[in-house]
Amino acid sequence: MSTSDGWLARLFAACAGLADLHASSPLLDAVIAEVNGRRLRIGDHWVTDFASCNYLGLDLDPQVIGQIPAYLERWGTHPSWSRMLGSPILFEQIETHLAELLGAPDVLLLQTLTHIHASVIPILASDGTIFLDARGHKTIYDACTVAGAHGATIRRFAHNDPDDLRRLLRRSGSGPRLVCMDGINSMTGNPPDLASFVRLAREHEALLYVDDAHGFGVVGERHADEPCPYGRRGNGVVRHLGEGYENLVLVAGLSKAYSSLLAFVTCPPQLKRLLKVTVPPYLYSGPPPVASLASALAGLQVNQARGDELRAGLYRKTRRVLDHLDRLGVATLNTSSFPIIEVPLADPGHLERVGRFLFDRGIYVTLAFYPGVPLHEVGFRLQVTAANTDEQVDHLLAVLDELAAAFPMRAPRP
Ligand SMILES: Cc1ncc(COP(=O)(O)O)c(C=O)c1O
Repeated sequence: MSTSDGWLARLFAACAGLADLHASSPLLDAVIAEVNGRRLRIGDHWVTDFASCNYLGLDLDPQVIGQIPAYLERWGTHPSWSRMLGSPILFEQIETHLAELLGAPDVLLLQTLTHIHASVIPILASDGTIFLDARGHKTIYDACTVAGAHGATIRRFAHNDPDDLRRLLRRSGSGPRLVCMDGINSMTGNPPDLASFVRLAREHEALLYVDDAHGFGVVGERHADEPCPYGRRGNGVVRHLGEGYENLVLVAGLSKAYSSLLAFVTCPPQLKRLLKVTVPPYLYSGPPPVASLASALAGLQVNQARGDELRAGLYRKTRRVLDHLDRLGVATLNTSSFPIIEVPLADPGHLERVGRFLFDRGIYVTLAFYPGVPLHEVGFRLQVTAANTDEQVDHLLAVLDELAAAFPMRAPRP
């Protein structure tokens, strides 16, 4: 089919910048032919992966991989029943473990966060009002539009701005109020002002819905003797910032830090019962495969035994990159030391060339393009995982030196 044909041409014109980048950049839509640790082969070119969200390196952990075959022997590859029909006991085991880890009243597992947002947000919002952070993840935004079609009203507040939210809450009428936002932000790596949002939710009898896709597994409860500032246990942004689950629903996935296709929503038991009879991914969809349930259970064991050690190594390697950028005088959006390091470019027009420069030198990153991020944040995102070696970080730092010499980079704000 030719892209000059009618409706398709109009759609391509609407996203022409991204379509051009997609067609020309080796960093988008790559076919990965082979992996070796955090090394990837694309065609005959080997690169080091700094775009992985497998923060704890559990995708490559021999203890996790070694446990999966026994589960497949026992359960087959895929249960196939919708969860409403029946769930292998593995689901219950993971839910119980997660509820204890999080300190939450209960947990419901579904396939992905995208499924959870799309099905749970409309239920929680009902015909009330959703207050959506202006930079809430696109999957939350889409779910809110579904809720809108079911009768909810949507109001957006300025990103991470409790004063703006307060103003909107004061003006809103009666009915359910749901405040939707990200936990650890997927582009900046920074946490929200959760204490203020929790306080506002409780004052206005609203429910705060927090998507901690990235934070869960990395940040956790704080202790005086913690091995690194991520805290202990990786039990997510709510515990990391010393909050609880009153008026708060936490959703997060296991597809990042735990390298497993699963996601969960925390809920009081009564809400869990309601969700089980209302959300389509529980009622009708195929469940996550057995290998995902097995890797989640094995990963939770690893987390218990040596998660804090993995996080301490992750923090140390992340700091190496952040300190190097500081020394180079190159800005990053990261103020938290979380292993997401976005480097905005001085000139967004350089994005494609910068991407090619990094790729040619063996560094694989995520491109942060407009309109996915605001124009002044166009750049690239580096992610460090526990499975990246110090030699790979050395190589990255050397390439960043070259990059800063070849392209004008944004300086940090004074
Ligand atoms: C903040 C956030 N929410 C949701 C998602 C989607 O998660 P899932 O793959 O579980 O649907 C992502 C994926 O990158 C994300 O970064």
